[in-house]
Amino acid sequence: MDSFEKYEQKPDKAPFKKWTNSDIEGASSDFFSLPDHPDQVVRKIVSLKMKKEKGKMTAREDIHHWLEKAKSFQDFAERYGINVAKTSYFFGSDPRFKTDIPKKEKPALMAITDRISGESFAEMEEVNEKAAVEIDAIFSNLYSGLIDSYNKNGDWWTDNGNGQAVWGTAPREKEPHVYVVDIDPKVGKWSDVPLANRETAFWFELEWVFKEMKEMEQKISAPKKEFEKAREILSQIITEMPVPTTEDDRKLREEIKKEI
Ligand SMILES: Nc1ncnc2c1ncn2[C@@H]1O[C@H](COP(=O)(O)OP(=O)(O)O)[C@@H](O)[C@H]1O
Ligand SMILES: [Mg+2]
Repeated sequence: MDSFEKYEQKPDKAPFKKWTNSDIEGASSDFFSLPDHPDQVVRKIVSLKMKKEKGKMTAREDIHHWLEKAKSFQDFAERYGINVAKTSYFFGSDPRFKTDIPKKEKPALMAITDRISGESFAEMEEVNEKAAVEIDAIFSNLYSGLIDSYNKNGDWWTDNGNGQAVWGTAPREKEPHVYVVDIDPKVGKWSDVPLANRETAFWFELEWVFKEMKEMEQKISAPKKEFEKAREILSQIITEMPVPTTEDDRKLREEIKKEI
């Protein structure tokens, strides 16, 4: 990750200095292509808040905040075996701002990610046997990560879902694999959720992952139409977790239990 100092000292060395609006791609205005690096996707994640410190405008505090976030996201993925497309986070000037208002700088958290050639889980129409094995594994890891982070009051990826991962091939690779491509570091700490809401938040997350998984199971073309490993872990969680204290959460639990 490029350091804050590097950005402050050399703002004009930002790799998108020469970009124009025609380099902006996709439905979202926050994705960019680098003409010389077609294997990469560049994106702006968030504009940084500037504050006056010692008479000088700086984004120091916000940079610190986002550095921590990016690190917790990458740590989360590594800890629970979630395969993220190769990504470098860096700080630079928001390219859209610069092209719209020439010569102005607006600092942003940016990321360069390997472009995965394939389809997002949400777009896939068919999940073949090879894909089914890997998708089963990623859902297994999500369930394990959910229960582990909950029990340890640790970090949880709050933005997981079928639109965030691609089944496809990374640059210089030959075989398709599962890659998380939405590298927006949306991680939350269970300890930040008020104790009174934590149990409900857990059951909500569990049901969300289950719903996303069932959507993918519908697409399996192999004879086995279920993600068996993931279902086994889910069933273990349901057995081991204390019965929820509220009526609504108990209902949720029963509904999941009925379906596994
Ligand atoms: N690195 C990438 N490689 C391949 N496809 C990508 C990549 N990044 C994004 N996409 C495509 O764009 C879609 C939206 O990307 P995502 O990162 O989830 O953006 P958003 O922040 O808008 O949710 C993904 O579902 C995927 O189809
Ligand atoms: Mg997304």
